[in-house]
Amino acid sequence: MDISYNVHAFQYKDLEIELTKNPQPKPEPSELVFGKNFTDHMLTVEWTSKDGWKHPKITPLQPLQLHPGAKALHYSVELFEGMKAYRGVDNKLRLFRPEANMERMNSTAARAALPNFDGEELIQCISKLIDVDKDWVPAAKDCSLYIRPTMIGTEPTLGVSQAEEAMLFVLLGPVGSYFKTGAFNPVSLMADPQYIRAFRGGVGNYKLGSNYGPTIRIQKEAERRGCQQVLWLYGDDHQLTEVGTMNIFMYWENESGEPELVTPPLEGIILPGVTRRSLLDLARGWNECKVTERTFTMQDLIKGLEENRVKELFGAGTACVVCPIDRILYGEKDLHIPTMDTGAVVCRRLYQELTDIQFGRVSHDWVRPIES
Ligand SMILES: Cc1ncc(COP(=O)(O)O)c(C=O)c1O
Repeated sequence: MDISYNVHAFQYKDLEIELTKNPQPKPEPSELVFGKNFTDHMLTVEWTSKDGWKHPKITPLQPLQLHPGAKALHYSVELFEGMKAYRGVDNKLRLFRPEANMERMNSTAARAALPNFDGEELIQCISKLIDVDKDWVPAAKDCSLYIRPTMIGTEPTLGVSQAEEAMLFVLLGPVGSYFKTGAFNPVSLMADPQYIRAFRGGVGNYKLGSNYGPTIRIQKEAERRGCQQVLWLYGDDHQLTEVGTMNIFMYWENESGEPELVTPPLEGIILPGVTRRSLLDLARGWNECKVTERTFTMQDLIKGLEENRVKELFGAGTACVVCPIDRILYGEKDLHIPTMDTGAVVCRRLYQELTDIQFGRVSHDWVRPIES
């Protein structure tokens, strides 16, 4: 589908900055809870179909003024991104593959009938916002600055139609280490095929808020059944698709006896993760095992477990990089996954290689330094 609006682009050179007179105290890295803390400033850019994008603005973090008829509030005309900036071992701040997030945000915007923009200009505006709030980027090990670009339809009319007014805004917040104890803590999953996250022809491959709200109750159900996250299955053959808000990977000896790292293909129902793409690139660079994007089902997994061919199962996403899985509750079956028993070797290697790049221990063209 090609719905891209001919808009007056916004540009970094027009960025207006108003600094806060009331800077907030910064939390201790040990107290950080994902999504609870916000920095002192935000970026906003308004759009109308008549005039295109207005000038981008950095202002003190403040509530939005929205008409209660705004389309975002009625029809979930809303999308977001999730990316991070890292304070490197050399104290420099770096963004990780921001152009990939911009590409995904623009593709989601087109699907949501919201306006497109020049990703490079937004990266430069975000870099300035991070520079303004740079003291908020934690220096503690494995901590980072979470970046939440968002776009909403603001036009106050109740017709289910394209929003003629929209707003893009970006929030920042310090986040702690995902693996708090320093250990690689595995998670348990509930796999219940009565719930699905996305379907063919739907919007599961876009980062629309409307994909996430309805998963909250299922996540609570997983917790009620003693699991930490949801394994999203799809189809009559119970294909494994995603884990909570992560892509899924399996390292195993495949049906032909070859070592293989496998992840489901991008065929419209899973989110094209930036971490997923990066892990595939890293593993392909090793030239040590087959690296495949293909569908695999619960039956494949169970047979592989019975034949001791499954070595590791893990989620992958910006929040944790990789997250080992040790158990799946699937109907009557309580499946033990041997990821930790095998030493999570592939999982750990991917984590090490990716975080080495993100924290500047290894130089790589995937990262973009933020200049002061
Ligand atoms: C449903 C879903 N799958 C996968 C991912 C992982 O994507 P990324 O690696 O870009 O964070 C996310 C997180 O954004 C997600 O929400």
